[in-house]
Amino acid sequence: MIEQKGFTLWFTGLSGAGKTTVAKALENELRARGVKVERLDGDTVRESLTRDLGFSKEDRDKNIERVTFVAKLLSRNGVGVLASFISPYRETRAMVAGETTNFIEVFVHAPLEVCAERDVKGMYAKAFAGEIDNFTGVSDPYEEPLSPDIQLNTHEETVEQSVAKVLAYLEEHTYIPVFEGQQA
Ligand code: ADX
Repeated sequence: MIEQKGFTLWFTGLSGAGKTTVAKALENELRARGVKVERLDGDTVRESLTRDLGFSKEDRDKNIERVTFVAKLLSRNGVGVLASFISPYRETRAMVAGETTNFIEVFVHAPLEVCAERDVKGMYAKAFAGEIDNFTGVSDPYEEPLSPDIQLNTHEETVEQSVAKVLAYLEEHTYIPVFEGQQA
């Protein structure tokens, strides 16, 4: 048995860019290949571990700090962590990179207009109407990664193509074995 390497795939991007969608599809594919993974997601973590937090810069940083602690423990013990958080601040993401094992920054990009058009949760409509304060991309900053390890352009590629990009990166960097079977 070859020991699995831990890694931290950090999906950052606007709400509605596709972080969760890609991470879920990737999770399925990695599990099918026998890779141990754990998915952490803003929408669910904020209902438990960080349910006391809001969306001020201070609270967003606390959210990411707590999640980083979990990602750190998992990734250093051979688990592949798939973390999907807006994580709008560059400096905070640099902190995550320093704390976790084999950190991989994945910029999940789609133009704001596309995310607002998708408006999966109906939050952009509310944010533009001024009903939600500090909404990322509308009334709160998003600092794009300057040199992400992987960039997914979800307005131009399918989920399968985005997943394939990440899998190729993981294989190239020997974080997972090269898969020789049938692609799911
Ligand atoms: S982060 O900034 O702290 O990384 P996180 O990814 O955990 O954010 O949570 C983002 C999710 O919270 C969004 O997908 C959206 O559903 C919800 N949300 C509620 N209020 C806001 C807001 N003001 N800005 C961004 N997302 C918000």
